[in-house]
Amino acid sequence: MNKKKFEVRRRYDATAKHYDPRYTNIQKQKYNEVFSHSNLSDYELILDVGAGTGLLLDFYKEKTQNIFCCDFSVNMLNEGKKKHNNGFFICSDIESLPFRKNSFDLCTSFSVLQNVQNVSKTIEEKFLVLKDNGILILTALKKKFDKNRLKHIIDKAGFKLVKIWNLSVEDISLIARKE
Ligand SMILES: C[S@@+](CC[C@H](N)C(=O)[O-])C[C@H]1O[C@@H](n2cnc3c(N)ncnc32)[C@H](O)[C@@H]1O
Repeated sequence: MNKKKFEVRRRYDATAKHYDPRYTNIQKQKYNEVFSHSNLSDYELILDVGAGTGLLLDFYKEKTQNIFCCDFSVNMLNEGKKKHNNGFFICSDIESLPFRKNSFDLCTSFSVLQNVQNVSKTIEEKFLVLKDNGILILTALKKKFDKNRLKHIIDKAGFKLVKIWNLSVEDISLIARKE
C-alpha cells in the first residue's frame, strides 16, 4: 500500500467513531436523492464499495442480507458492525475486491472516489465484479470532479451512462450500466 493510501486509511480509522454523528444526515440525503431514480429493491446482490460504517444498510433495512459492505478501514467497519447484525462487512481495498467477476447486480460507491488515485483504472478493472447489464451507482465530490470528467471515465471503462446529475448536497451522482 502506498503512503497516500495508508494515510487515507489511517485518517478514517482514527475518526471512525465520529463519522456517523457528523455525516449521517448528509449521506442519507444523497441516498434519498439517488434512490428516487433507482430502487434498491430491484436488485438481488448489492456491493457497496467504500461502505464505511454501513449507513446504506440503515437506509434500506428490508434487504440488508443481500448487501455486502466493503471498506479498507477496519474501524469504520467495526462501527458498522456495532449497529448491524445483518449485512456483510468485508475489509478490502477497492483495488483488490475479493469477489469473482460477474457477481453483483448493483455496485454502489458513495463519496469514495476522492480517495482513489487512478479512478479510471479502478472503475475499468474493479467493477468487473458487476454482472453484465448490472448497474453502477457512484457519487463523487463536486469540488474534486466535474460531470465531463466522470462521463469520460465511465465511457472509457465501457459502461453506458444512464444518468448523471448534481445532488443538492456536495456530490455529483451517476447511474451507469455494464454492457
Ligand atoms: C466519505 S466515506 C463514505 C462512506 C460511505 N460510503 C457513506 O456513504 O457513508 C469514504 C469511505 O471510503 C473508504 N475508502 C477510501 N479509500 C478506499 C479504498 N481504496 N478501498 C476501500 N475503501 C476505501 C474509507 O475508509 C471511508 O470509509
